Amino acid sequence: MGIAEGRVVIVTGAGRGLGRAHALAFAAEGAKVVVNDLGVGLDGAPGTDGPAGQVVAEIRARGGEAVAHGGDIATAEGAASLVECAVTAFGRLDTLVNNAGFLRDRMLVNLDEEDWDAVMRVHLKGHFLPLRSAAAWWRAEAKAGRPVAARVVNTSSGAGLLGSVGQGNYSAAKAGILGMTLVAAAEMGRYGVQANAIAPAARTRMTEQTFAETMAAPGEGGFDAMAPENVSPLVVWLGSTASAGVSGRVFEVEGGRITVMEGWRPGPTADRGARWTPAEAGEAAAKLLASAPAPLPVYGAR
Ligand SMILES: NC(=O)c1ccc[n+]([C@@H]2O[C@H](COP(=O)([O-])OP(=O)(O)OC[C@H]3O[C@@H](n4cnc5c(N)ncnc54)[C@H](O)[C@@H]3O)[C@@H](O)[C@H]2O)c1
Repeated sequence: MGIAEGRVVIVTGAGRGLGRAHALAFAAEGAKVVVNDLGVGLDGAPGTDGPAGQVVAEIRARGGEAVAHGGDIATAEGAASLVECAVTAFGRLDTLVNNAGFLRDRMLVNLDEEDWDAVMRVHLKGHFLPLRSAAAWWRAEAKAGRPVAARVVNTSSGAGLLGSVGQGNYSAAKAGILGMTLVAAAEMGRYGVQANAIAPAARTRMTEQTFAETMAAPGEGGFDAMAPENVSPLVVWLGSTASAGVSGRVFEVEGGRITVMEGWRPGPTADRGARWTPAEAGEAAAKLLASAPAPLPVYGAR
């Protein structure tokens, strides 16, 4: 029996890279998978191939069950049809893995409004709309008295946790995904839904240049620390009933390492019980900063 036996799982952007690895890993653990991918380029430009169909063929060739969905997850119709696709093909939905996205990297001073909008849209809206469609389905199930043990796994990034130079749009979208995950966990627990997020790192077309030198594939038999397949086991566990009780958490996952990220929490505080003048506020802030740990550096900052 696989850890995800019989569960119906949607993975967005599952035609390549991390999403493909997640889809194959869920299928290997007995899940029925809806493989979504619009088949766009690295910058979101329309593509000509149908990567979702290829992954479905791979899963079926290994004896698993899967269907392809080629819609755009950042549209309300695409997100609604994605959930309908799961219910039509397999009769239910248990797990949603939000993963699709692309990059339009520029320094903020050079970032076009269109590149800001495109990246916010595909990541932030592209997480929200499938989440909303899936949540509506699960709420209806719960209200009908059927048991729900649903799971949402969202995909953030180190850029969302710490910021990344040249990725102001992407960092903002990925930080937004973390905030939305916490709210989803708090709002949807009553319907039997758990929501968590990962910040992965792996060699895909998205990171080929970044990781080309430092993270090249090892020789035969060595552990390929940057293989996307290393990220999927935690995603499969989070997407299974075995993760019961885990919600509103963020994990960094890379190679053989899993880290629980601890997030914002209050540090040194001063309260004078009355309004400060600006000069007094500055003096107090300087004292507090002197006793606070230095922040972790933004990726790519010198
Ligand atoms: N690779 C890494 O190290 C890394 C690090 C941090 C975060 N991430 C995140 O992981 C996720 C997967 O990235 P990847 O590295 O596998 O990239 P990838 O480019 O290999 O895969 C992303 C897939 O999403 C699809 N897609 C894009 N827009 C879509 C849309 N509107 N609807 C449906 N499908 C769409 C693309 O066609 C592509 O196949 C992304 O959210 C990315 O930001 C990746």
